[in-house]
Amino acid sequence: MPTIQQLFTQHIEQLQLRVADVLEREQLEALIIHSGYPLRIFLDDQHYPFQTNPHFKHWLPLTEHPHCWLVVNGVDKPTLIYHQANDYWHKAASSPSGFWVDFFDIRVMKHPQDIEPFLPKQRQRCAYIGEHPELAEALEIGERNPELVLNYLHYYRAYKTDYELECIQEANHRAVKAHLVAKELFLAGASEFEMNLAYLSSLGRGEHSLPYANIIALNENASILHYTALSASKLAEQKRYSLLIDAGAEYRGYAADITRSYAYRKGLFAELVLEMDILQQSLVNDLKPGYRYTDLHLKAHRKLAKLLVDFEFVYCSAAAAVETGITRCFFPHGLGHHLGLQVHDVGGLMQDEDGTVLAAPTLDPFLRCTRMLEPRQVLTIEPGLYFIPSLLAELAESEHTRLINWSRVDEMRRFGGIRIEDNVVITALNCDNLTRAGNWS
Ligand code: GLY
Ligand code: MN
Ligand code: MN
Repeated sequence: MPTIQQLFTQHIEQLQLRVADVLEREQLEALIIHSGYPLRIFLDDQHYPFQTNPHFKHWLPLTEHPHCWLVVNGVDKPTLIYHQANDYWHKAASSPSGFWVDFFDIRVMKHPQDIEPFLPKQRQRCAYIGEHPELAEALEIGERNPELVLNYLHYYRAYKTDYELECIQEANHRAVKAHLVAKELFLAGASEFEMNLAYLSSLGRGEHSLPYANIIALNENASILHYTALSASKLAEQKRYSLLIDAGAEYRGYAADITRSYAYRKGLFAELVLEMDILQQSLVNDLKPGYRYTDLHLKAHRKLAKLLVDFEFVYCSAAAAVETGITRCFFPHGLGHHLGLQVHDVGGLMQDEDGTVLAAPTLDPFLRCTRMLEPRQVLTIEPGLYFIPSLLAELAESEHTRLINWSRVDEMRRFGGIRIEDNVVITALNCDNLTRAGNWS
C-alpha cells in the first residue's frame, strides 16, 4: 500500500505536468488560483455558506479556507498564500498542518487586502482562475479564467490520480455507513427530516459539508427527482411504502453520490427494487474502456424496456417501448455523470483537451456525459424507474396510451420511484465499484 505522501507526490506531479503543458500552449507564465470568499446576502450582514473553487481544492485538501491563493507554474514548488486572520469574531484558520504542507511554499497573510505583494510582480502573462475576475482585474492579472485553459484543465480532470481515487473511495465508505443508519430509521418509521439528521450525525458533519443537498424521499416524493424538502411528518405504519435516499459525503474535497431505494414491505414494488438492482449491476459489470457513455445510456433504456415488459407495465415489445419514447417517461434523466471535486464533475461532454463538445442526444437532453470510457474516469451509474404524475399525464394523452397497462402503473404511483446509484472507476480491463467495496447489509 503506498503511503499518503507517495500518493500525494504523484498527484502533485501530475497536476504540475498539466499546468506546465497548458502554460506553454497558451504562452502564459503562471496560474493564480483563488480559493474564493463567502458571498454576502443582499442587504444583510450574513453570508451564504462558503464553497471553495474546485481548482483550488484540486491541489490540496482545504475546503473551508476563503481568501487563500495558489501560484503554480508547473516547474517551481507551488506557492500557497494562506489566509490566517486575527479575528475574535470567527474561528481563524489554524496553522497549516498535515501531509500536504511540505509540497507548498507557504506564506501566511493576515488580511485579504494584503494580497498584492504576495503575487508575482509581472502579472500580465498570468491567468487568474477563480470566482472573482473583477478582483483579478484590479490586481492587474492579465488573463481571467481563459476558456482554453479551463477547457484543458476540465478535460483532464476526468482522469483521477491514485490520491483522488482514495479520496472518493473514502467518501464512499462514509456515505455507505450513513446510508445504513438512515435505512434502519426508515424501517422504524422515521420522518425524512429525522433520517437526514441521523445521516449527518453518522458523518459527523453539517449539511453544508455535503457535496449536494440530500434527497430523502418517502412514498410519492420519490417521483420528484431532486426532492430536498425533508418533511418532518411521520407516516402511520400502513401508509409507509417506500424510501429513495440519494445522499453523499465529502472527503478532502471529493464527493460520493449514492442512491438506494427500499420497499417497506414485500410485494410488486419490492420485486421491482430487486430487479432494478440487478439491472444496475448488470450495467456496471459490462463497463470497460472503449464504450461511449451515450451507448450505455441507451443500453439502460433497453434493459428498462425489458423490465417494463416482464412486469406487464406495457403491452408492446421492449424495442417498441424504447422507440416510442415510453421508457423515457419512466426514466427521464441521464444514466450518470463524472464525479470528483464536484458531484457533477466537469468535462463530461468534452471530447478533447480543446474542449470540443459532443452534446447529449436530442432525445436525452439531460445526459451529462458523452465521453468514451477510459481508465481512471470516475462515473456514476444511476438508472431509475419512476411514476411521475406529469409525465404519466402526458403519456396518457399521447397516442401510446393504449400500450400502457394503466391499472398496474396506477398501483405503483404511491411508491414514487426507484433509483440505484453507485460510483465506479474505469480500470484497464473493466471497472471497480467504489460503492459496493464496503459492507452493505
Ligand atoms: N445526487 C445528484 C445526482 O445523482 O446526480
Ligand atoms: Mn448522480
Ligand atoms: Mn445522486
